[in-house]
Amino acid sequence: MKIRTLVVGLAAATFSLAALAQQPIVIKFSHVVANDTPKGKGADFFKQKAEELTKGKVKVEVYPNSTLYKDKEEMEALQLGAVQMLAPSLAKFGPLGVKEFEVFDLPFIFDNYDDLHKITTGPIGKSLLKKLESKGILGLAYWDNGLKVMSANKPLKNPEDFKGLKMRIQSSNVLDAQMRAVGALPQKMAFSEVYQALQTGVVDGTENPPSNLYTQKMHEVQKYVTLSDHGYLGYAVIVNKKFWDGLPADIRQQLEDAMEQATRYANQIAKVENDNAMAEVKKSGKSELIALTPEQKKAWKKAMVKVHDQMAGRVGKDLIQSIYKETGFDPSKL
Ligand code: LMR
Repeated sequence: MKIRTLVVGLAAATFSLAALAQQPIVIKFSHVVANDTPKGKGADFFKQKAEELTKGKVKVEVYPNSTLYKDKEEMEALQLGAVQMLAPSLAKFGPLGVKEFEVFDLPFIFDNYDDLHKITTGPIGKSLLKKLESKGILGLAYWDNGLKVMSANKPLKNPEDFKGLKMRIQSSNVLDAQMRAVGALPQKMAFSEVYQALQTGVVDGTENPPSNLYTQKMHEVQKYVTLSDHGYLGYAVIVNKKFWDGLPADIRQQLEDAMEQATRYANQIAKVENDNAMAEVKKSGKSELIALTPEQKKAWKKAMVKVHDQMAGRVGKDLIQSIYKETGFDPSKL
């Protein structure tokens, strides 16, 4: 009898150990935007590839639209290990103490995606990601969203049109300076709160790439959208370093492969997604789209580019200069 109990007990223990061994590793991937955006689609693509390449040993749970955490909370949750993966916009690393990332927020520093990719795929981009490690964070990749539009309930054509307007921005001091440079009153606010703030008049306007504007329905509560391309919004895909370093080497490699493919995919679709979103905004007839004349665009540049100098102390003069060198941007030629 005793032997039988022992055998049954041993069998049960072996079974539960085996079951435990087969438990997938769970990666919670939280983000604040809609599924049908460049980031949302990139996250879903990563999930699919990661589960496929690890043959189900890893399960990726994607939580879009701030369902788990809002902007600031998600960074804390990652550092605490409550969530394993995020893709915050580069503008959101300032409050973490890695102010150099705000260089990407400098108005008009990137004219196009090619210039930008010289930075994100080159040594400058790599060295910036490295700075996150002291915060317990590992940067895996840069994902694009795109160039931003500006919206309000009055037409924004000239820098003077911003005067006195309360403009929602992300938590970046560079964006704060950009809005002040045109006489607006910047208001830092979590992404999940923007629609309501626009709807109720807590703020008058905002900036974002078209994919965010459209999927959050901001165009339904903003009468005018200016196609200004005045700045860039992109992301760093980041993980909790301790979690990532603790993964079995083969699984980590498979996840890195999945991330490489997801990055290629996300960066490939970003521009098309934004172009499509803009077309939808136009089709909706809810906001009037404003294209700037070359003179107006020049006036925006002249008013905003002084922020590069103003913010050099914060983001790093050398960093700004090294980006100018790569992209050929020359503020004295404006
Ligand atoms: C914002 O807060 O406006 C953006 O960072 C949202 C996002 O993640 O694209």
